[in-house]
Amino acid sequence: MRISVIGCGYLGAVHAACLARLGHEVVGVDVVPEQVTALAGGLAPFHEPGLEGLLGETLGSGRLTFTTDPASSAGARVHFVCVGTPQRRGEYAADLSAVRSAVEGILPLLTPGDLVVGKSTVPVGTAEMLSERVREAQPEAELVWNPEFLREGHAVADTLSPDRLVYGVADVEGREQAQAAVKLLDEVYAEAIAAGTPRIVTDLATAQLVKVAANSFLATKISFINAMAELCEATGADVVALADAIGHDARIGRRFLNAGVGFGGGCLPKDIRAFMARAGELGVDQALTFLREVDSINMRRRVRMVDLAREVCGGSIVGRRIAVLGAAFKPDSDDIRDSPALNVAAQMQLQGAQVRVTDPKALDNARKRWPDLAFAETVADAVADAEVVMVLTEWPEYVGLDPVALREQVATPRLIDGRNCLDPVTWRAAGWTYRALGRP
Ligand code: UGA
Repeated sequence: MRISVIGCGYLGAVHAACLARLGHEVVGVDVVPEQVTALAGGLAPFHEPGLEGLLGETLGSGRLTFTTDPASSAGARVHFVCVGTPQRRGEYAADLSAVRSAVEGILPLLTPGDLVVGKSTVPVGTAEMLSERVREAQPEAELVWNPEFLREGHAVADTLSPDRLVYGVADVEGREQAQAAVKLLDEVYAEAIAAGTPRIVTDLATAQLVKVAANSFLATKISFINAMAELCEATGADVVALADAIGHDARIGRRFLNAGVGFGGGCLPKDIRAFMARAGELGVDQALTFLREVDSINMRRRVRMVDLAREVCGGSIVGRRIAVLGAAFKPDSDDIRDSPALNVAAQMQLQGAQVRVTDPKALDNARKRWPDLAFAETVADAVADAEVVMVLTEWPEYVGLDPVALREQVATPRLIDGRNCLDPVTWRAAGWTYRALGRP
């Protein structure tokens, strides 16, 4: 099937390459020429395991092309809208300008039977408004909302083998055109459907809400365990053992119960805020007041992490040499958007510490965002002569560090495990002062 993908950022680039892998003929359209040049040359503009291999394979097959020319979407039966919806400057609400202009750009190209599929995360009500625009431009074309649940670092696998498919369709019961749209989207995802992937066909509002509800739940789960970490600190209990114990209850589950410096990235923080803003507009802000607390707990972790560094340094971080391991918001990513690691590093620097940050993949992005911070290419350079080492992103290479060897490289063997990813017994046995949030 000929398909166009509008917006080739994280979501779109991966989606386009995966659709081509499934045998479709895909054109990816983006307004940023550098992004298009990189992707067309088989280079992923961001770190995502497996993506470059997939780009090489699908570009080589001739089924995948990238362009800045919006007219190249003409002739596609399905148009996926994958542009970003960042937080608006100075507000909680989402900025929908890219989604609006992506859909407006497709309107003149639509022919009867075409399908516009929204994948971007949008405030509920957006799809209804866009659907109206599609209907005005081409009454025999349909708009469907099909949220995406991929995680950075696992984006290719999540896209090729999603754990569920959600289609939001207006009045699917009563309209043949809507049913044809579902059938067409089923053809796009034929492989996943044949593999037994659950597929939920619902209305537009529900489909939009599913996405933000899922991210809100995940954020709540993380803040819940971080709130428990605060209780653990007040009582001398251990949040990791607590998470393991409650996680054995299948109704709770252990995943997303890792306490530490909290959640960041380009999705969870801005999605819960945009959701609160939308609830306010809908007059049901009380329903989501708890998300404000989820956000506060999360932000407190960053402040608490700096306090812990101060405590470990004996009351002041002024002039102290602190090595920060990790800049990305999570491992297997070079994404530094709202990264807790960099937030903590920057706070400490602003409060007078001598901070040196390292990361296996995110240094270029980190340098651009925080030019005043000092960066080191390797762990050895970062920790040389350090008085405190802080692990703030749980990259496998940091989790696997040898405490005995590392001890030789620092001035004082003090470790703060900001992700509860290291074994306190081993580190203490190697002579380190080990501290973490929520652990004795
Ligand atoms: C998140 C969702 O997990 C995806 O399902 C969703 O599709 C995506 O947002 C999106 O909306 O596009 P992502 O932002 O890639 O994916 O990252 P997560 O794996 O959810 O991690 C988010 C943050 O939570 C990271 O900073 C991570 O370190 C932190 N986290 C995660 C914890 O602090 N504790 C945990 O137990 C798990």
